[in-house]
Amino acid sequence: MISVITGASAGIGEAAAVELAGRGQQVVLVGRNPAKVARVAERIRAVSGTTPDTLTCDYTSLEDVRRLGAELLSRYPRIDILINNAGVMTTERTLTRDGHETTIQVNHLAPFLLTNLLLDRVTGRVITTSSRAAKTGRVDPADLNRERRRWSGWLQYGDSKQANALFTVELARRLSGTGVTATCFHPGVIKTEFAPKTFMMWMVKNIPGMGQTAEEGARTMVHLATHPDGAAYPGRYFAKSAPASVPKGMIDPTLARTLWDASAAAVA
Ligand SMILES: NC(=O)c1ccc[n+]([C@@H]2O[C@H](COP(=O)([O-])OP(=O)(O)OC[C@H]3O[C@@H](n4cnc5c(N)ncnc54)[C@H](OP(=O)(O)O)[C@@H]3O)[C@@H](O)[C@H]2O)c1
Repeated sequence: MISVITGASAGIGEAAAVELAGRGQQVVLVGRNPAKVARVAERIRAVSGTTPDTLTCDYTSLEDVRRLGAELLSRYPRIDILINNAGVMTTERTLTRDGHETTIQVNHLAPFLLTNLLLDRVTGRVITTSSRAAKTGRVDPADLNRERRRWSGWLQYGDSKQANALFTVELARRLSGTGVTATCFHPGVIKTEFAPKTFMMWMVKNIPGMGQTAEEGARTMVHLATHPDGAAYPGRYFAKSAPASVPKGMIDPTLARTLWDASAAAVA
């Protein structure tokens, strides 16, 4: 079983990679920083006896995502599970070298592109780390960069995570009948390197009982990668290892298709 995990250099992705490798899966680690990914590979070697393959990619460059996709296609004739987990929350509005707002590119457009590049090679499941922040998202396919609306880090983060859920809905529809399924999930409120300069994460890390460990955050991801649920609920959003109800804006099929088309145009 070959699982490609992005954002595997830290936090939830690292914890899931360690857990899946411990259960005998062949994990492929994708991170941004070579030294950080190498540290996780060494950690996995210590628990499983096998050193996993590592690749690096910076999602602020779509050219780099295309290079990653080509590299994965050249190395793996089959990918059983693709886990789109890399993500950021930034407090300053910046643009990538591709001209997109950074949060929407890193959290949505880059995994959208990577998934499309690899899709013919994926045999089992596509799992995307969304967030309950998606529930308050107001993603506008005609204004992915929030140029025409007020930008704040959390507003744009919510849009990007709503985009993860809508991407999952449309991807599942497109994969219907192929045996490949798509799901997404909320990991919980987790003490990681995520959103480092925010008061929210300061509270999560410093108020006892407010945040959970990375290992707890990885549980739903591992569930979707290993349990029949991961194939039984195409297009669904999970929380606490179970399908969860969500607002209409996270599952609206028309919005999902419009977003797909806008995303394809943005990465073309
Ligand atoms: N923590 C929470 O409470 C929480 C709640 C809901 C959802 N999530 C989601 O969970 C996922 C994992 O986050 P985490 O909490 O584990 O945070 P984390 O510890 O900061 O890990 C984020 C991962 O994404 C990678 N990444 C960030 N920017 C990137 C870029 N430009 N290109 C490529 N990779 C990049 C990071 O690489 P580096 O190691 O190089 O920085 C790291 O591997 C994210 O999608 C996040 O939105 C987290």
